[in-house]
Amino acid sequence: MNPKQAVTSGRPAFFLFDDDVNPPMNDLDQLVAQACDDFAAAPTPAELENAKARYLGKSGRVTELLKALSTLSAEEKKSHGAQINMAKQRVEAALQGRRQALADAELETQLRAEALDVTLPGRLRGIGGVHPITRTMERIEAIFASMGFDVADGPEIETDWMSFTALNNPENHPARSMQDTFYVDMKDDAGRWLNLRPHTSPMQIRHAQAHARRYAGAERMPDIRVIAPGRTYRVDSDATHSPMFHQVEGLWIGENVSFKDLKVVYLTFMQAFFETTELKIRFRPSYFPFTEPSAEIDVMFETGPLGGRWLEVSGSGQVHPQVVRNMGLDAERYIGFAFGSGIDRLAMLRYGIDDLRLFFDGDLRFLSQFN
Ligand code: PHE
Repeated sequence: MNPKQAVTSGRPAFFLFDDDVNPPMNDLDQLVAQACDDFAAAPTPAELENAKARYLGKSGRVTELLKALSTLSAEEKKSHGAQINMAKQRVEAALQGRRQALADAELETQLRAEALDVTLPGRLRGIGGVHPITRTMERIEAIFASMGFDVADGPEIETDWMSFTALNNPENHPARSMQDTFYVDMKDDAGRWLNLRPHTSPMQIRHAQAHARRYAGAERMPDIRVIAPGRTYRVDSDATHSPMFHQVEGLWIGENVSFKDLKVVYLTFMQAFFETTELKIRFRPSYFPFTEPSAEIDVMFETGPLGGRWLEVSGSGQVHPQVVRNMGLDAERYIGFAFGSGIDRLAMLRYGIDDLRLFFDGDLRFLSQFN
């Protein structure tokens, strides 16, 4: 027989038990335990409230017990009432606990649903790269900077005067038609027609004029030594010509600058640019209004897929005295050379590209190879 012997002296029953660990249950304890089980089994707040009504509602089991107290004597009311109230408090505590647990679970589910997985790799925006033409420009700038050249920049919309007249290419001169230009239907403040510059040569004038102004009155003017890379525009368009292309202008003006200096500077540039000494350059007589004498510069690689052929890379020449005057300088005192090289051409040779248009199609499969 169970050693826990019940001593029943009316309701509620009191038990004697042999240890505190496992107290036997009386009716109220059972009621509380059942309420706890019911609450725990309620899967949602709504069902929990239904379960609550069964115990604490108007005709709930606990409420009924309390109502029944009115039939008892004052003495019994006191002790039974206290017992029932304690049970009620336990039921309420269980209810409160279960409410909290359900709310916590709901919050947890919501948080989990809305959770960001911070360990997911981010969606990267494509990291841009430097365009091969820009890369080539930067390379050219670095090489000339190492030879003491400044880098200048100027407008792509030029005046007719800067693009042609100042460069000894007067209006109506047939040499203008060599550079079929994009005109802008607009004049500047001085009434000069505007065009998209067909070459970077206007930068010779702009830069030299600024230099001459800066040193006007000085006893000695430092040499003008500058390159001016940038966009240029002509109507040509085929595999090796684009209506928008890039040139780099070079200019060295001083009291004692000769064609020999041009040869040394250009050969040094070519060797640095192509990273080889196994190349030759030659100067082939040519004509430009702004240089006299004028020459095309050709390069020939001794080896490699392009080896053994002369490839044209630049126009050049000794700056024409009229151009020196247009720069605001004394043509009896100052002399020098200029060149204008096609940057796209140089990039094509360096990277072995045979269609210029690839540079400007914006195809990432092509462009990303350079980064
Ligand atoms: N401006 C010439 C051209 O675009 C190149 C050039 C520049 C020639 C400087 C001589 C001196 O063809």
